[in-house]
Amino acid sequence: MKRGRMVYEGKAKRLFEVEQPDVFLVEFKNDATALNGEKKGQIEHKGELNNHISTAFFHVLENAGIATHFVETVSDTEMLVKKVEIIALEVVTRNIAAGSLAKRLGLEEGTVLSRPVVEFYYKNDALGDPLINRSHALAMGFATRIEIDYLEDQALKINQILREFLLARDLTLVDFKLEFGRLNTGELVLADEISPDTCRLWDVYSQEKLDKDRFRRDLGGVTEAYQEIWRRVGGTNA
Ligand code: TMP
Repeated sequence: MKRGRMVYEGKAKRLFEVEQPDVFLVEFKNDATALNGEKKGQIEHKGELNNHISTAFFHVLENAGIATHFVETVSDTEMLVKKVEIIALEVVTRNIAAGSLAKRLGLEEGTVLSRPVVEFYYKNDALGDPLINRSHALAMGFATRIEIDYLEDQALKINQILREFLLARDLTLVDFKLEFGRLNTGELVLADEISPDTCRLWDVYSQEKLDKDRFRRDLGGVTEAYQEIWRRVGGTNA
């Protein structure tokens, strides 16, 4: 597909205009960052693996009635998505304590939460994406009360759908981050990506980490972990 002007370059993806006016082309990169950009590296084959894994998740969610920005996958590393105005909130849903929640609340990593927790973070690299509450989100004008309720509701629905899908593939969905965008009709849709960069995924039996924590914590075998996720969610099991 012919790429037009690059409209955005992020840590893991680049966004290009294409001939269709209401669509962008997303290119998934091998670049990886962690610790708020302090740790930088490359994960071999990450671009193609995350493109394929995200595609598989978007298909699962669309089939379950979740509105997303996904249009179609056009190459190993590229997909077409609907143009949206991204909401400045990262919506994190957690089933098991890990990462920043384990640290913040003094919980042992792996503690099962009695119910899923939904958190909002202000998407702002310079501030290190701080945790905020609904009141902050409203006061900052990121979304209306109705929209914030909708985001939380969608996050919980998506959690339920993906948890079941992944459990059937012997994977525990520990936590994940979603981003949403506004179409020019005003409708909110799921945007960005869903991949081992944005989820914590553990093998059900061994608890082995099969996600970006392998990069964040220098555990090695990063590409192999992403390949294993692709094998289980799409790849040879498709
Ligand atoms: P955390 O435990 O570091 O707050 O991360 C929670 C989940 O959100 C985890 O699956 C990783 C994901 N995440 C992102 O995708 N991007 C981010 O910038 C952050 C902080 C977390």
